[in-house]
Amino acid sequence: MRSCGIKSYVRRSGRMSDAQRQAYETLRSPYAVPFSPTFLNYEALFRSIQPLIIEIGFGMGVATAQIAQDNPQINYLGIEVHRPGIGRLLREIESRGLLNLRIIEADAVEVIQSMIPDHTVQGFHVFFPDPWPKKRHHKRRLISRPFTDLLARKLHSGGYCYLVTDWADYGEWALRELAATDHLVNPHGGFAPPKSWRPKTAFERKGLAQGHGIYEIWCEAVQ
Ligand SMILES: C[S@@+](CC[C@H](N)C(=O)[O-])C[C@H]1O[C@@H](n2cnc3c(N)ncnc32)[C@H](O)[C@@H]1O
Repeated sequence: MRSCGIKSYVRRSGRMSDAQRQAYETLRSPYAVPFSPTFLNYEALFRSIQPLIIEIGFGMGVATAQIAQDNPQINYLGIEVHRPGIGRLLREIESRGLLNLRIIEADAVEVIQSMIPDHTVQGFHVFFPDPWPKKRHHKRRLISRPFTDLLARKLHSGGYCYLVTDWADYGEWALRELAATDHLVNPHGGFAPPKSWRPKTAFERKGLAQGHGIYEIWCEAVQ
């Protein structure tokens, strides 16, 4: 299969707290699955067949845990490479007793290419992806074709892609990339109104503190 070829992250430095390290070492086995180039068995992973939402780059996972807790009728899969955040979200899964949230520690591009069967995803959440503001780095932006083509193929009809960024230029870029993606339509024609159910994330607070605006994009899959 052709790789999408995006390296959209750098591993952020950041010390793991003792609690995060302990969670990372002891809770991966029940709540996280390793990367493997075979399709996931959703029923075995969640012990239930429910709609699946995938969050790419959950950071510290604060919004992820809250959304999963608020929606027990939906399964959530968070994909991240930042270990302190993985440790933190593992703790949240344990302490909140979340049966509907699981984690994969790996590059989301590879996970979605190799582990997610086509037309099986209800939604993708991408909150405050790394903005890669310098022109020479634009090729590292996650919301770019052909990766958006891959996302569209994984969605089932009526599924959605929900992106939020605090970088106006990335928002405009993403609108263009998503508009050029077959089988995705933007019912708002441009930026979407904010969703009241989405909790604020750490990077959103940083962006707001720097005086940035918040740009939301909502696209839906049509087959
Ligand atoms: C700017 S942070 C935003 C984190 C969080 N969503 C928030 O709003 O606070 C972007 C996150 O995406 C993760 N990320 C970027 N590309 C990724 C990829 N290809 N696979 C997995 N995680 C990725 C990074 O590790 C980082 O934690």
